[in-house]
Amino acid sequence: ELGPYSHFMQKEIHEQPRAIADTIEALIDDGVFSAELFGDKAADVLAGVEGIQILACGTSYYAGLTARYWIEEIAGLPCTVEIASEYRYRTAVANPKYLIVTISQSGETLDTMEALKYAKSLGHPHTLSICNVPESAIPRASELVYYTRAGAEIGVASTKAFTTQLVALFTLAVTLAKLHGRLDEATEAEHLDALRHLPGSVQHALNLEPQVKAWADRFAPKDHALFLGRGVHYPIAMEGALKLKEISYIHAEAYPAGELKHGPLALVDAQMPVVVIAPNDRLLEKVKSNMQEVRARGGELFVFTDEDSHFGPSEGVHVIRAPRHVGVLSPVVHTIPVQMLAYHVALARGTDVDKPRNLAKSVTVE
Ligand code: M6R
Repeated sequence: ELGPYSHFMQKEIHEQPRAIADTIEALIDDGVFSAELFGDKAADVLAGVEGIQILACGTSYYAGLTARYWIEEIAGLPCTVEIASEYRYRTAVANPKYLIVTISQSGETLDTMEALKYAKSLGHPHTLSICNVPESAIPRASELVYYTRAGAEIGVASTKAFTTQLVALFTLAVTLAKLHGRLDEATEAEHLDALRHLPGSVQHALNLEPQVKAWADRFAPKDHALFLGRGVHYPIAMEGALKLKEISYIHAEAYPAGELKHGPLALVDAQMPVVVIAPNDRLLEKVKSNMQEVRARGGELFVFTDEDSHFGPSEGVHVIRAPRHVGVLSPVVHTIPVQMLAYHVALARGTDVDKPRNLAKSVTVE
């Protein structure tokens, strides 16, 4: 079953070009973004909503945080994202014009299911589930469904489920933009083209594995690591930190790079590895000045960027570059190296990669 791979996690990381291609197959075949991708009744529902409330746990929550940038920027709709276990126990004020979107690989996560029920009880009539397991509890309880087609995910650490959730959520953002009159034909064609090229770009990122692996020995003896990102790449830093904690048991924290000087910079010294997600987007110059703040305190930088940033290594600054900046879908491509880093650090530390201690694949209890 594992083929040439040593663990399910490694296999699932490498399956991502295929999983993404499968998840967008219907869209690419149609050649247009259409509401039907989300179910028969989706056109009226999606055209009528005035905002999006996303509810999820863990990695699925980070997919939601990434989607917020796309939904607000591309569709111009307000979007809030909340951890399901928090939402379900607070007195939330429902706006029935908001679509509830739950994200769950398994479709069985208890907190997400209970948050969905709670949202309905508060008077939210419209619900959409983004899920990887057909006919599981959460999609069954939802009005609209988009199934990711990652295939069975066995490793406890979620990998291909996350990147396929991202493409499903990007598809949702563009579809909402279209239904709300905020998408011209040229831009629609551009987004479609970006998705069509995505499996290839993810494959290029996978080809960076030997370079990422070469970093693993430097992380293995550490007790702590920081992950930095800005904008749409901040949730990818959070996902990178979660992966490292989960399977290598190294304490890792993610911060928006602009927050450093408001506290976490006090942690930085020569012992602290700092991973930075720094693609060539409009925040790159800001991220570079945050990196200087780290270097000035002796922190060692491990930077994931792309060729377009023309950003080179220097003393205490290690750099791995993806072949090119892929624009709006860049968070998907930059997920790959942080997954591979966690995997190789865990191998170097000899942990049980596919079954990390204390964790279950599907959290069906509180
Ligand atoms: O099945 P779900 O997507 O609802 O699961 C949510 C989380 O339990 C899950 O993403 C968890 O955080 C992963 N183990 C992270 O790798």
